[in-house]
Amino acid sequence: MRSSIIYSSLISCLAAVTAAQTTPVWETLPPTPQLPGNPAGTLTEINGVKIWHAELGTAVDGQVPVLMLHGGFGNSDYYGDVVKSLMAKHQVIVMDTRGHGRSTMDSTPFTYELYASDASALLETLGIAKAAWHAGRARLRLRRGHNPQSTNATFSSSATYAAFIGRATKEYAALQPNGDLKAFAAAVETLESTQPNWTEADFARIKLGAKVTIADGQYEEAVVLAEPALLNSWIVGSQRVTLTNVSHFAPLQDPDQFAAKVEEFLSA
Ligand SMILES: *[C@@H]1O[C@H](CO)[C@@H](O)[C@H](O)[C@H]1NC(C)=O
Ligand SMILES: *[C@@H]1O[C@H](CO)[C@@H](O)[C@H](O)[C@H]1NC(C)=O
Ligand SMILES: *[C@@H]1O[C@H](CO)[C@@H](O)[C@H](O)[C@H]1NC(C)=O
Repeated sequence: MRSSIIYSSLISCLAAVTAAQTTPVWETLPPTPQLPGNPAGTLTEINGVKIWHAELGTAVDGQVPVLMLHGGFGNSDYYGDVVKSLMAKHQVIVMDTRGHGRSTMDSTPFTYELYASDASALLETLGIAKAAWHAGRARLRLRRGHNPQSTNATFSSSATYAAFIGRATKEYAALQPNGDLKAFAAAVETLESTQPNWTEADFARIKLGAKVTIADGQYEEAVVLAEPALLNSWIVGSQRVTLTNVSHFAPLQDPDQFAAKVEEFLSA
């Protein structure tokens, strides 16, 4: 009797270990971290809305400040562990995109041009003339496709997507108790299903060459797998980086590798 109990608990223990080992990290959505020190941040009026932002680390001579722009439905906290590494050497600015996280929205439809205008106005407000951007768009690192067809059609039926949307919904309610989730979700959905609508000719106008890095995860599941090579060929002279053993949610799955790649990008 005693030995069979030990035996069965040993089996379930082994089963738990095996399960943990067989779910690769790129198929998981690790917990959303906090930003270092969980900063209260600042709300600044920009283009008619209030943009939440926080500055971490300190400016270092000869190092450009780094602006981290999170993805759709997310918020700055997703970069918490990445910022923890980067802030040792850089001034890091995080901002919640309009409508997202702690930033407010109005009835103006979301566009990537408006997002970019918000970001550059924030940098101007902070007195920063030049910064490195890590973006779902625009020193410049890209993580999105050139048009809605660049979204992988299977992504929205994946378990990771369901987990992310469930989590993002709860985070939105916590960060923005008076927010209008329905209006926010509709605005993001409209944006992501219709924009961007950029062509090779549009990308050819980016003359930053090697200052642009096209980065993706080895197991990217949100953007079609052919997209990084395509954008890399369209932005003449751009760099290309693939993060190992991670998916679209690389900042949660392997923040140290993510930060190391950003450091390489900044020192190039
Ligand atoms: C995308 O842009 C092309 C021109 O580059 C235009 O013909 C097409 O209608 C646009 N599509 C959408 C959905 O805006
Ligand atoms: C979409 O994602 C799945 C799962 O990661 C992958 O197997 C498939 O090849 C991707 N499709 C395209 C067109 O990139
Ligand atoms: C990637 O994951 C595989 C399977 O879990 C592991 O064997 C490999 O060592 C990992 N590679 C890196 C570079 O972490």
